Amino acid sequence: MNKRTVLTGITTTGTPHLGNYVGAIKPCIDASHEEDVNSYYFLADYHSLVKNKDPDKMRQSTLEIAATWLALGLDTAKAAFYRQSDIPEIPELTWIITCSTAKGLMNRAHAYKAVVQDNVAAGEDPDFAINMGLFSYPILMAADILMFGSTHVPVGKDQIQHLEMARDIAQRFNHHYGDILVLPEAVTSEHVAVLPGKDGRKMSKSYNNTIPLWLPEKQLRKAIMRIVTNSLEPGEAKDPEGSALFAIYAAFADEGQREEMRQAYAEGIAWGQAKQKTFELINGELAESRERYEALLAHPDRIEEILLEGAVKAREFATPYLARIRDAVGIRKLA
Ligand code: TRP
Repeated sequence: MNKRTVLTGITTTGTPHLGNYVGAIKPCIDASHEEDVNSYYFLADYHSLVKNKDPDKMRQSTLEIAATWLALGLDTAKAAFYRQSDIPEIPELTWIITCSTAKGLMNRAHAYKAVVQDNVAAGEDPDFAINMGLFSYPILMAADILMFGSTHVPVGKDQIQHLEMARDIAQRFNHHYGDILVLPEAVTSEHVAVLPGKDGRKMSKSYNNTIPLWLPEKQLRKAIMRIVTNSLEPGEAKDPEGSALFAIYAAFADEGQREEMRQAYAEGIAWGQAKQKTFELINGELAESRERYEALLAHPDRIEEILLEGAVKAREFATPYLARIRDAVGIRKLA
């Protein structure tokens, strides 16, 4: 059996929040310690360029997200951790596979179609404000994946269509040029919690209900105190089901702690006290990493160095592999 190759990309936009931590960052970092896998984790800055037109924000977000993954203990001895834009093989493969990708396949991409529909609904030209980066986004993502022979790609459910497109693209390429590209599989996790935000809906930037991951202690406490609860008084039994506060607590707790908290709800713990306990639990989990995070942010040179080392490691695979791909399509020395 060949070793598994696990790869995932992180779009460098915005600041990470608790929902990202529970749903994506933590499970990936835990997986980075596994033996017997080749793993690749990268900052998808070319993808973020599709939307982000502010150069300073581009840099800041890359810095914060890199520092986040490092502070939380991503195992960079085992995994290659790099910035997409440090791998010139990726845009080169993007073009090569662009030339075997049906335009019709791209027309069907959910993200692109949603923008077209919004434009039409607003009475605009269907292509209003759509750049080619948005249209070709799935091809760049396919190149990220195919460039490393990835077999397993952990992603959120919203990315499944992109994985299917990557398989389609690889298949069509292989059909014409021979069996060269590896067909990847999406790995989505059923049991990973979707964390509710302060208002009880899914924690998401678009709902403006997030709790940023790296709030200083006092502000973290304040943010948790603002999680919406009902008006039950201290002493009245409370139902953990449907309580955003309980779900947030549970995402950080072990089985014993969850049981105890369920008991406390049944016995009528005051909301203020339940919030205090939630704060203590989350703060306890993050406090040490927060110090590492602050220290890393103060040393961008150190982060830069780690990313460049990661790029060297990633290119050890990508450079010879791309040479084979170029040869397969007939980009060859003449003599
Ligand atoms: N599109 C992915 C997202 O928004 C990020 C991404 C870019 C990615 N390239 C990738 C994920 C390659 C997995 C593999 O979440």
